[in-house]
Amino acid sequence: MLDKELLPRHVGIIMDGNGRWAKKQGLPRTEGHRRGAEVFRAISTYASDIGIPYLTFYAFSTENWKRPQQEINVIMDLFRDFLHEAEERQEENTQRGFRFRFIGDLSVLPEDIRSLAAFMESHNPENGRTTVNVAVNYGGRSELTRAFHLLLKKVQSGEIDTQDVSEAAISDALYTAGQPDPDLIIRPSGELRLSNFLTWQSAYSEFWFSDVLWPDFTTDDFDRALLDFAHRSRRFGGI
Ligand code: FPP
Repeated sequence: MLDKELLPRHVGIIMDGNGRWAKKQGLPRTEGHRRGAEVFRAISTYASDIGIPYLTFYAFSTENWKRPQQEINVIMDLFRDFLHEAEERQEENTQRGFRFRFIGDLSVLPEDIRSLAAFMESHNPENGRTTVNVAVNYGGRSELTRAFHLLLKKVQSGEIDTQDVSEAAISDALYTAGQPDPDLIIRPSGELRLSNFLTWQSAYSEFWFSDVLWPDFTTDDFDRALLDFAHRSRRFGGI
């Protein structure tokens, strides 16, 4: 058991390796995504049970539209399934204290997904135990660009002065406004990069990499990441 004091408040997870997992099993890539969605459910439930208040899962990047249409369709279907389930299990999720959010530019998503996401967000409990951000059509640079546009508009309209464009104001203009920055970012599947995930928010994040492919990722792997994190010395530029 880990000391609660040493748990990260916010964990970001890049769900990578679904395609390779499927290939290894002789299955179509889309089966990897299906299995990946189950692991997403298992890890969010576990993380909430042990008391982690914020989670962000990278589910679909602004670059993922380059994939074959059939693969994109299956991923969109998985979002639909998740959103329908959230609707059906709304009471159970509220009792558990889950607050689900979709972050990213949702404007180009199919209309039914957008309205299901809006329904889900409007039915979140006021004070949840665990906020789960699902990053969809998300890119850190596009999130920052959007934030700068929002702030520029406020400056132009005279609502704020140029000097008010502070680090805090930029954080508040991001999708994750009001949430702590991720303390820990987990990337399975052997890749050692951030891939446009939480670009601004990750300035002081600790990173944890593993060769395990996301569909094989277990709560034991998650525990390993938490244990490593508990032993890191975070100085935030100090000594
Ligand atoms: C990266 O693996 C994974 C994705 C681009 C899609 C992730 C989406 C899901 C797991 C579905 C999520 C559903 C919900 C409800 C959140 P990859 O395909 O790039 O793997 P590879 O590098 O092995 O090809």
